[in-house]
Amino acid sequence: MTGGARSEGAGTVETNTEGGPGPDAARRRGQPGEMVPNPARIYDYWLGGKDHYACDREVGEQVARTAPWAPAGARASRAYLREGVLWLAAQGIDQFLDIGSGLPTAGNVHQIAQHLNPAARVVYVDHDPVVLSHARVIVAPDPGVLVLEGDLRDPAAVLAQVREHPDVLDLTRPFALLLSAVLHFVPDDARPREIIRAFRAVMAPGSHLLVSHVVADDDEAGRATRVAAAAYSNAAQPFIPRTSAEITGFFDGFTLVPPGAHPLVQNGRPSTVLGGIGVVA
Ligand SMILES: C[S@@+](CC[C@H](N)C(=O)[O-])C[C@H]1O[C@@H](n2cnc3c(N)ncnc32)[C@H](O)[C@@H]1O
Repeated sequence: MTGGARSEGAGTVETNTEGGPGPDAARRRGQPGEMVPNPARIYDYWLGGKDHYACDREVGEQVARTAPWAPAGARASRAYLREGVLWLAAQGIDQFLDIGSGLPTAGNVHQIAQHLNPAARVVYVDHDPVVLSHARVIVAPDPGVLVLEGDLRDPAAVLAQVREHPDVLDLTRPFALLLSAVLHFVPDDARPREIIRAFRAVMAPGSHLLVSHVVADDDEAGRATRVAAAAYSNAAQPFIPRTSAEITGFFDGFTLVPPGAHPLVQNGRPSTVLGGIGVVA
């Protein structure tokens, strides 16, 4: 097992000299990053974090006006990730691949897993320079942690990077693939089911897939959620809510762990986020 700071990937490490979130892809295109709403920062705003700008808060508020349950959904999703990682660690899973890992927050995946198993290891992957610059400073120095720049839409490239670090994540042994609140940023034309199949193909028996995803069925809440999703049109990424059936379909090739893909509960009420865990038999 390795310990200590590690962070790799094709991107440049970007430092934040202004005390706020670092520059993002928009800045690389010549726009100031703080002018373009960013999914990780909007989520951070809903979680009650401090790494967001006015433009992120604006989109967060705009979404919440149409879909007032959205911030609670974000909290439900994060709570599910926490409970899921604890459950997985209790099942003996000691290596995690967390793609779309987001801005570091209270209770990061490695801290949760290492609470039960100090030898647990986590590979964090994100494509957002804001997230990566924070993760490289805040979580990469911890033992058993590797931070990689990678894009979920290119599973072969992510897996190629992971293979370079068998001491952190050994693909010949069971691991947990965490796709928490990220698949709804992957449009259909990027073929999300094929992406999951590519990961499934290398997952040893006993490996698990955790998914949480904003749901929009053909009901009043679902219609409002689709309208609210349009607020992301000016953000760095579109937002694609899906039906329960579409989200359940992501578990093809996995055996769903009871209770299956189900609405997550926040403050005693079902949220518009579906969560589930599947296992490779
Ligand atoms: C809403 S946050 C979720 C953070 C964390 N997984 C959680 O559940 O708390 C979504 C994250 O997914 C990342 N993301 C979106 N699309 C991605 C992609 N194609 N590849 C890698 N990361 C992606 C964003 O940059 C953001 O950090």
